[in-house]
Amino acid sequence: MPRKILVTSALPYANGSIHIGHLVEYIQTDIWVRFQKQRGHECYYVCADDAHGTPIMLRAEKENITPEELISRVNTEHQQDFADFAIEFDNYYSTHSKENQYFANFIYKNLAAGGHIERRTVRQFYDPAKEMFLPDRFIRGECPHCGAKDQYGDSCEECSKTYNPTELKNPISAVSGTTPVEKDSEHLFVNLANFTEMLQEWTKILQPAVLNKLSEWLESGLQAWDISRDAPYFGFEIPDEPGKYFYVWLDAPIGYMASFKNLCDNKNMNFDDFWAADSQAEVYHFIGKDITYFHCLFWPAMLSGAGLRTPTSVFVHGFLKVDGQKMSKTRGTFINARTYLNHLNPTYLRYYFAAKLSNGVEDVDLNLEDFLQRVNADLVGKFVNIASRCAGFITKRFDGQLAAELADKELYQQFIAAGNSIADAYENRDYNRAVRETMALADRANQYIDEHKPWILVKQEGSEAELHAVCSQGLNLFRVLMGYLAPILPILTEEVGKFLNTPITWQPEALIGHKINKFKPLLKRVEQKQIDAMIDASKETLVATPVEKPVENIADTISYDDFAKVDLRIAKIVKAEHVEEAKKLLKLTLDIGEDKHRTVFAGIKEAYQPEQLTGRLTVMVANLAPRKMRFGLSEGMVLAAGPGKKDLWILNPDDGAEPGMKVK
Ligand code: MSP
Ligand code: ZN
Repeated sequence: MPRKILVTSALPYANGSIHIGHLVEYIQTDIWVRFQKQRGHECYYVCADDAHGTPIMLRAEKENITPEELISRVNTEHQQDFADFAIEFDNYYSTHSKENQYFANFIYKNLAAGGHIERRTVRQFYDPAKEMFLPDRFIRGECPHCGAKDQYGDSCEECSKTYNPTELKNPISAVSGTTPVEKDSEHLFVNLANFTEMLQEWTKILQPAVLNKLSEWLESGLQAWDISRDAPYFGFEIPDEPGKYFYVWLDAPIGYMASFKNLCDNKNMNFDDFWAADSQAEVYHFIGKDITYFHCLFWPAMLSGAGLRTPTSVFVHGFLKVDGQKMSKTRGTFINARTYLNHLNPTYLRYYFAAKLSNGVEDVDLNLEDFLQRVNADLVGKFVNIASRCAGFITKRFDGQLAAELADKELYQQFIAAGNSIADAYENRDYNRAVRETMALADRANQYIDEHKPWILVKQEGSEAELHAVCSQGLNLFRVLMGYLAPILPILTEEVGKFLNTPITWQPEALIGHKINKFKPLLKRVEQKQIDAMIDASKETLVATPVEKPVENIADTISYDDFAKVDLRIAKIVKAEHVEEAKKLLKLTLDIGEDKHRTVFAGIKEAYQPEQLTGRLTVMVANLAPRKMRFGLSEGMVLAAGPGKKDLWILNPDDGAEPGMKVK
């Protein structure tokens, strides 16, 4: 019986680019959806941009555009990134939509009618210059526990303690740079404790590690949830509450329903089949572990309070690390989806993530050395190689025609039978097992070819029929394996389907006497220099980040002492050279007086030709700790102004300044 399944991934925020961390989730979900569809189930995958909230409002303001313009531009970018990774949504929408407003109001009104909404006065920081209340992340100050400077309003990065923003010493608004004042405001809350019993029951379906965490929260008593924010706010105004808006996290998960409703309207499908309280359909949300509270407590409570069905399950995954560490802009491991695509084939990453993913919540490590090894050894060297070893002979010797009979029916049957366990691995999101079992079969197929040695048969008189049989067997085995890997490797599957001249399906009947097309190499090996170039392109340049905010918006102040630490010097550029393979960098040799020379790699290649720089004076940070780069040691930084890329101007003091002079 085909199942009816609705699947979602978390909605990415509309103020940032998709990065490879996000892709863990979208690739994980896409594989599961493709698997369900391949097995003949009625499965829909919907998503949307999460378009509301203060950060988006402020970002648009900074760019001098409306929030609507910002979210529409980002939506286009996100959709292009996803499409290029073959992440295939049935609908990709936005939370800033009429459907979402309708459902947000609907759920809110039902919660209110059920007596689940209450009012409370909240004392918060208010920015008198901007006339707005400040979210915790937009307040900086000194940690009340350890005194560390320049910490966020909710937690300290030095001592990891959490606190209320009003406890910070010397708080500063990151929006205007002024000192915020405390101010009262009435907020609306959902009384979550009303749902404790319902949640205790519902959460039993979750992964054990997730359930553990939730049980702690459930046992210590659920706090009421603040769902309103005061104007100015980019979001939906709350019905009959002028000047109050739904907090972004109220309407974000409702965005799943809204995107699906939009799909139903376009495709003439029945929305209630999936969302009514008595729905028989399955609904699954894939999310990262950081947003468990919202999805496993707030969301089911909201749905149940509104008289709708609750999710069948929520599947939680861990975070992406690169080489065992958090993604980092200085190390060049904070890699945007687009940067990856500029250097590497999306098929590699889909394969690698699948090979690493389990159904647990442990973090996933992208080890770049292992990435190259595994892709080259397993995907290219082992799997694709089966086809390369057989196809040429079929084309050249047998006019592209496969043999009229299968040489080793038993081996073929073994390959087909193995599909049940692989299907079970996919269903349970145990993709690493699915890959492992498929690759073990690939070893077996290669072993078959090694045993029969087509490269020797081709030279032997009278071995024509055997050559034909062996290569046809090899290609049939390859086709079965492609079916097993199809959810992970859709782009490759499409190519293989064209070359074998047949659809790629799960556990197929063997191809007998079938005509195939000419073989073209299916997948190249990864090269180290592609990975290096991607990391370089992801590194923040060594030019100090230019001031991009209007002056009145400069956010974080530093003390005079902080400033005094920076040793700025006049430097003369005695040599400027291109660095081979580096897209953004020029190598500068700087004279800083007293015959001292410094080498600095500066990200100004798009703005300057080396010959424009030689002999000029500029300003450098002379006491920056030296940094080892791929091209050598960089011993400082030169200062420049402008938004970046082509529009960048190095500081250029008038003649009369001498190399080595201190800049004050
Ligand atoms: N907008 C919210 C989700 C609302 S869902 C109703 C949000 N957006 S996000 O852009 O920050 O993250 C989207 C998803 O990507 C989340 O599930 C998050 O856990 C996941 N990831 C973001 N960074 C990640 C890694 N570095 N590694 C793995 N997953 C990551 O949260
Ligand atoms: Zn602290």
